[in-house]
Amino acid sequence: MTEPKLISGFSKLSKEQKINLVASGSNNPEATASVLKSFWNEDPAIQKLFDEFSENTLTNYYFPYGIAPNVMINGKMYMVPMVIEESSVIAAASNSAKYWASRGGFHSRVISAVKIGQVHFIWDGDFELLKKHFPQLRLLLLARTGMITANMESRGGGVLDMELVDMTGELEGYYQLKVKFDTRDSMGANFINSCLEEYAAGLREFVQESGYFTPGNLNIIMSILSNYTPECLVKTWVECDLNELDNIDGSMSGEAFAWKFEKAVQIANIDVHRAATHNKGIFNGIDSVALATGNDFRALEACGHAWAARSGKYRSLTEIRIENGRFHYSLTIPLAIGTVGGLTSLHPMAKISLQLLQNPGATELMQIASTMGLANNFSALKSLTTKGIQLGHMKMHLLNILNIYKATEEEKKEAVEYFKSHKVSHNLVASFMHSLRNGK
Ligand code: MEV
Repeated sequence: MTEPKLISGFSKLSKEQKINLVASGSNNPEATASVLKSFWNEDPAIQKLFDEFSENTLTNYYFPYGIAPNVMINGKMYMVPMVIEESSVIAAASNSAKYWASRGGFHSRVISAVKIGQVHFIWDGDFELLKKHFPQLRLLLLARTGMITANMESRGGGVLDMELVDMTGELEGYYQLKVKFDTRDSMGANFINSCLEEYAAGLREFVQESGYFTPGNLNIIMSILSNYTPECLVKTWVECDLNELDNIDGSMSGEAFAWKFEKAVQIANIDVHRAATHNKGIFNGIDSVALATGNDFRALEACGHAWAARSGKYRSLTEIRIENGRFHYSLTIPLAIGTVGGLTSLHPMAKISLQLLQNPGATELMQIASTMGLANNFSALKSLTTKGIQLGHMKMHLLNILNIYKATEEEKKEAVEYFKSHKVSHNLVASFMHSLRNGK
C-alpha cells in the first residue's frame, strides 16, 4: 500500500469511486477492490442500510455470531447470542453457563436504571443570584422539553431531576446543570442530548432575558450525556455450597478451589495489572452481547472501567464471599443498555438477537449482559487457578492457526485428532503441518 495523499471531498465520491481510489494504492488494485466488494450483502436493500449506518462505507467487516446455550438467570433459560472474534469466549461462557445451570443458575437484580446528562458552563457572575433564581429556571427548562419528553413520559420515563452543581472547587467559574433521566427500554443517548441542548438554550435565554443577570457572565461550554452511569446498576451472582465445587478440575476439593479462586479475586482487587485483565475478561462477555444486540460497547466499557476506579484505585469488578461453607461470587456493574431505538431496531441481526432473548426490556438485558460477563470471568478464573488458560485457549485457537496454513478439511481433521492429546502452539502446529505435508 502506498502512503495516501491529503484528499478533500472523499465523502462526496460514489461508493465505487471510493473503492477504486482506496484500492489504487494497493499492490493489486483489482484484487483489493474485488475482496472489498465480495463482502457486500447480496440484497441491495440490506447493503444500503449498512452503508447508511456510517460515513464512507466501502463494505462490511464480518465477526462471528454465536450462541451460548443453557444460560439460566433467575430461573429462566436463555440462549444468548454473542458476537466476538476471540476463539475461546463463547466456549468459556457456554461452559460456565452449563456448570451453573445445575447449581441454581445465575441470579440477577437491577438496582437502579437512571441515566445522567450535563450542561457544563462557566459563570463569572454572582452564584448566589443564580442559585436564588434556579427554582424558576428549573421549571422553565423542564417545560421547554415537554415536546421532546412527552413520548418518553407516556412510556413511564422522562426527566427525573435537575440540579445546579457548583464545581468551582475544581475549576474557576465552572458549574453544571446535572440532569437525571429514565429512558425506559432505550439507551436514550439522542433523547438525553436533545433535552440537554434545549436546557442549554433555555439557560442562555433566561440569563439574557430575565433581567436578573449580566448576560456576558455566562459561557456555555457543552451539553452531553455522561457515559458514567453509576445509578444504572445491576448485580449478578452465583452461589452454592463449597462441596458442590468438588472436582471442578477433576481432582481438587471444592474448598481448595474456592480458596485459590478467592486469592485470584483478591489479587485483582489490589493489583491494577491483574485488575485490568480480570475486568477485560468480564467485558469479553458483556461486549459480545452488546454487539449482538446493537448496543454501544464503548459506552459500556468506559463506564465499567470508571466504576472499577470509583474508590480512587482501579479494582476488580467482581466480589467474592466464602462464608459458612457457601461460595458466593458476584459482579456489580453499571450497564446503560437498550432494547429499543438506535441500531437495536435497525440492524437485522440485532433484531434477531433480541427475539432469541425472548424480547427483553432494557433491565432484563442488563441482567443478561452482566450474566455473560460473570460467566466469562468465572470460566477464566477457573482455568487460571486450575489447569491454566492456554490449554483450552490454544485448543480453540487451533483452527485459526490451521487456517493460516491453509489446511484442507482432511488436514484439519488429522490435526484436531492429533492435538487432542498434544500441546498446541503456533510452532508445534507449523511443524505438524510440515510433517503432514512431507509425509513424515
Ligand atoms: C482473555 O481474553 C481474557 C482473560 O485474560 C481474562 C482473565 O485473565 O481473567 C482470560
